[in-house]
Amino acid sequence: MFVSFEGIDGCGKTTQLQLLKLELLKRGFEVVATREPGGTALAENLREVLLDGASKIEKTGELLLFGAARAQHVAEIVRPALHRGAWVLCDRFADSSEAYQGGGLGLDRAFIRQMNDFATGQLWPQRTLYFDLDPQIALQRRGGGKGDRIEARGVEFQARVRAAYLEIAAREPARVTKIDASRAPDEIFAEVCAVLEL
Ligand code: TMP
Repeated sequence: MFVSFEGIDGCGKTTQLQLLKLELLKRGFEVVATREPGGTALAENLREVLLDGASKIEKTGELLLFGAARAQHVAEIVRPALHRGAWVLCDRFADSSEAYQGGGLGLDRAFIRQMNDFATGQLWPQRTLYFDLDPQIALQRRGGGKGDRIEARGVEFQARVRAAYLEIAAREPARVTKIDASRAPDEIFAEVCAVLEL
């Protein structure tokens, strides 16, 4: 089972991923908890470059680097784990590129979907949990600092990312479930379990 966790920076998705991992381990499943960009040596290197505030990267190059990290991650981690029958819990996946580089930066969203299909060999999560939160609240939760290269783009950027996520959720209701992330973590987790029929 392949589940991705999506949302703007500071939405609380990583906490929920960890709670789900513990619950699944308790029930005796093999769990691979991973993240994008990251999860492999190459992709973690790309992550450092992509998030480093000192990096100078064109928008187009930024998109392709996220795509490159995704291609490696799918081939090296995600597909083998799914093949073994493990649960794969992925902190961000292809929707992040459409939301951030498409919604946030204004790059062509249809092209981004094609890039994602190319990078993943058309592998998509069975379920995507989208944690919806107001960008101002998310900023407060992150401690209000400037953050990494992407977070430093500010609240208006995050608002465009959120709008794109909401469009994706409305377009693909069978895969993507929108979850109200303004609530307490245990309340949110109860909904996560219900969505996954656990
Ligand atoms: P994280 O801090 O949630 O792990 O995510 C890293 C940052 O990278 C976050 O600001 C979102 C951004 N990102 C993109 O802009 N495009 C992508 O395709 C992915 C996977 C992440």
